[in-house]
Amino acid sequence: MIITVLTLFPKIFESPFQESIIKKAVEKGLVSFNIVNIRDFANDVHRTCDDTPYGGGPGMVMKIEPIYKAMEYVNANGIRPKHILLTPQGRLLNEETALRLARNPHLSLMCGRYEGVDERVLSFVDEEISIGDYVLSGGEIPALVLIDAIVRHIPGVLGNEASTSDESLKDGLLEYPQYTRPPQFLDMEVPPVLLSGNHEEIRKWRRKESIKKTILKRSDLMEKFVPTEEDHKFIREIMEDIPG
Ligand code: ADE
Repeated sequence: MIITVLTLFPKIFESPFQESIIKKAVEKGLVSFNIVNIRDFANDVHRTCDDTPYGGGPGMVMKIEPIYKAMEYVNANGIRPKHILLTPQGRLLNEETALRLARNPHLSLMCGRYEGVDERVLSFVDEEISIGDYVLSGGEIPALVLIDAIVRHIPGVLGNEASTSDESLKDGLLEYPQYTRPPQFLDMEVPPVLLSGNHEEIRKWRRKESIKKTILKRSDLMEKFVPTEEDHKFIREIMEDIPG
């Protein structure tokens, strides 16, 4: 998979790509990054990429021409990508979107800056994505968040292929509690079932704890959850255990 990033601040991407899972994914040849500096496509000596907004008002707006030229350059080189604009006006990112986007051979992520980008840029993008209902100073950090969420879904990226499917938000549930050595710390013990070696009991315990955590911490996620027969039994037991 190729991920192109269009940005005015290419250096922001240097260190995150040199660490951990993303670095390994690059080394394994599973993903390659192409960081494009939008400023290289500005057409004046000052390499201007922003200008004052028509109609007045504070701040600067990113100009359309350099962005358009940068996109055309990306389109003309290799597989035509799906163009995504990172913006607080986009659809909220979730795991389902990350999984869907991970199936594209080439994504191009356009990072907006300043007070926004010229609205006409929207005619060249396929999708607008927001990482949350708050405003950051630019789309670079949102692009990194999106990249991290996507790369984990590329087959072969995580050593243990079960890792993505087992963790938080599988079936829309939060992850079950995890423990590692020591079995006792201060007065806190690891739940005995996890030390029992009984895989079926461990599976059931984890499923029930996942549901319990989701009910207690993120009850909003339960609206989309489709329980199995066994899950219904767990839900009844959890409700009986909850005081009041
Ligand atoms: N740019 C600025 N804030 C953003 C957000 N929350 N999500 C995506 N892009 C952004």
